Amino acid sequence: MESNKTFTMIKPDAVANGHIGGILDQIIKAGFSIKAMKLTSLSAEKAGEFYAVHKERPFYGDLVKFMSSGPIVAAILEKDNAVEEFRKLIGATDPKKAEEGTIRNRFAESIEANAVHGSDSDENAAIEGSFFFSAFERV
Ligand code: PPS
Repeated sequence: MESNKTFTMIKPDAVANGHIGGILDQIIKAGFSIKAMKLTSLSAEKAGEFYAVHKERPFYGDLVKFMSSGPIVAAILEKDNAVEEFRKLIGATDPKKAEEGTIRNRFAESIEANAVHGSDSDENAAIEGSFFFSAFERV
């Protein structure tokens, strides 16, 4: 994916807590445009595949269980320097450490239920976007 695209998921905690609208509002006001979006869910198998890069980490099982526990919103976003700009907007992985006003500071519950995912590189943004969306589903 080009350097002006990133991939995000609004995670099961934020969907269940009614934060889809609030999070999308903050994303759009920060200057991102939505190039693809869907409400969907991940089976444990699909979540395991998506997070395979973290397979050896102690929290992998919990992460897979959590990410397959309920609906999510998946989206491809566009803005200059999208990956870095979006990670600034969402704040640190642990919401206790996330800066005031960031999405995780406002909407996350814990390091596990941390409201949103943001790709960590242009390469992963491309892989993750293609995991959820075909060319036909993108504008
Ligand atoms: S990051 O964003 O990749 O730099 O963050 P990292 O700390 O490497 O975490 C990778 C993903 O694992 C999730 N995570 C956890 N889940 C459950 N329990 C614990 N303790 C935990 N620690 C980290 C974290 O939210 C990251 O998920 P994504 O979807 O990539 O944000």
